[in-house]
Amino acid sequence: ALVVRHRMRSSGQSAKALAILRELEEKCGAPVGRLRQVADAMTVEMHAGLASEGGSKLKMLISYVDNLPTGNERGWFYALDLGGTNFRVLRVQLGGKDKRVVKQEFDEVSIPPHLMVATSHELFDFVAEALAKFVSSEGEDFHLPPGRQRELGFTFSFPVRQLSIASGTLIKWTKGFSIEDAVKLNPFAVSPQVGEDVVGELTKALERVGLDMRVSALVNDTIGTLAGGRYYNPDVIAAVILGTGTNAAYVERAHAIPKWHGLLPKSGEMVINTEWGNFRASHLPLTEYDQALDVESLNPGEQIFEKIISGMYLGEIVRRVLCRMAEEAAFFGDTVPPKLKIPFVLRTPHMSAMHHDTSSDLKVVGTKLKDILEISNTSLKTRKVVVEVCDIVATRGARLSAAGILGILKKLGRDTVKEGDNQRSVIALDGGLFEHYTKFRECMESTLKELLGDASDCIVIEHSNDGSGIGAALLAASHSQYLEVEES
Ligand code: GLC
Repeated sequence: ALVVRHRMRSSGQSAKALAILRELEEKCGAPVGRLRQVADAMTVEMHAGLASEGGSKLKMLISYVDNLPTGNERGWFYALDLGGTNFRVLRVQLGGKDKRVVKQEFDEVSIPPHLMVATSHELFDFVAEALAKFVSSEGEDFHLPPGRQRELGFTFSFPVRQLSIASGTLIKWTKGFSIEDAVKLNPFAVSPQVGEDVVGELTKALERVGLDMRVSALVNDTIGTLAGGRYYNPDVIAAVILGTGTNAAYVERAHAIPKWHGLLPKSGEMVINTEWGNFRASHLPLTEYDQALDVESLNPGEQIFEKIISGMYLGEIVRRVLCRMAEEAAFFGDTVPPKLKIPFVLRTPHMSAMHHDTSSDLKVVGTKLKDILEISNTSLKTRKVVVEVCDIVATRGARLSAAGILGILKKLGRDTVKEGDNQRSVIALDGGLFEHYTKFRECMESTLKELLGDASDCIVIEHSNDGSGIGAALLAASHSQYLEVEES
């Protein structure tokens, strides 16, 4: 009798877990009709954001990049790429049209988590020190004309209100950086603070470590990726980051930017950083898990699109679903595994590994559950459900990112085939999610095809491998303080 009762209970439990699963599937559903609504809403918000400052949740930030790399850039330049879990320092030698990137050296440093929520100059000091160390490794071939300062392109992957190509103030932190909160605790600390000039703060930190270097360009990672992509391919018109966070930039006609009151650039173009991570629309398929994640996040109410698409959050959404299954359906046994309750323990790379498990007994899923969540002896049935949760959450994110890209193509009028025009549009993609989460990438690409129909032949997605670092160096070169002297 005991055995029978136990079986009944466990089948009741799994029925409940399956109900939670089906509900998740339904709430995360992103059929084509809905994706089109999302794309249309994106286009509408893009217009609104370009019309006036604060006109939309989409900030549509003016980058001051009105000339993309041509290939003529020459000389040695540095770049610094800050904005994810790692930061990178780069040194490149640009050799002009024929030789392009002659030499490229880099160093990657992971940011100690405590600095992401630091209370003083710590973050920028840490960055400046790493850069100084990197500079000291210059080889024999490194060469600057006498009297010339080293120049740096700074990729800072947060929303910045640019004042020029080489200055701008931080609008807010995103992606788990929360230095502004510390400011509230200690108004005399932290740099850069929200509203502070990012380049000024970096320059001060460089001075503190005794490094003589000029920041010639301040760019978002999307802008760097666009510049890096364009350097190799003139058809690149937009860049998208799918990584820790998500964002897109594209080339806009300057006269289509009502809020731009500056001179009309010679090129007639201006690159716009959409900050689409902050996009939000009633059509977005949101669940109770997303709502709870948002409320408990460092930036509640902000970056909603980012919170359902990007690498910082996907694993956490899966954890929340599994946690509810454990609590309400005893999915992992009579008690809720304590580890499962810890926010952000389940990272997106773990999720990706489970999602890609092709073994018949889902061995990888079993190992991950054991190693990360300390849940052992899971049945194949349980593992299958876990994979399904991963699939639902990743699919939603991938499909929505395709809708975002469609929104940009619509804004540019490149989403349909035009008579006698087979102009190619290339979108440069980068970011860990795109690079390493194969199923996510494949789903994003196939969804975009599905949405574009016939026009999909003219749209190309191109991986721009670390384009953002090279891109920043290229922009530092084209905005070098010595350029006019050289050209005259
Ligand atoms: C976040 C930042 C944005 C950046 C993106 C990708 O959305 O706000 O500036 O481009 O992450 O790194």
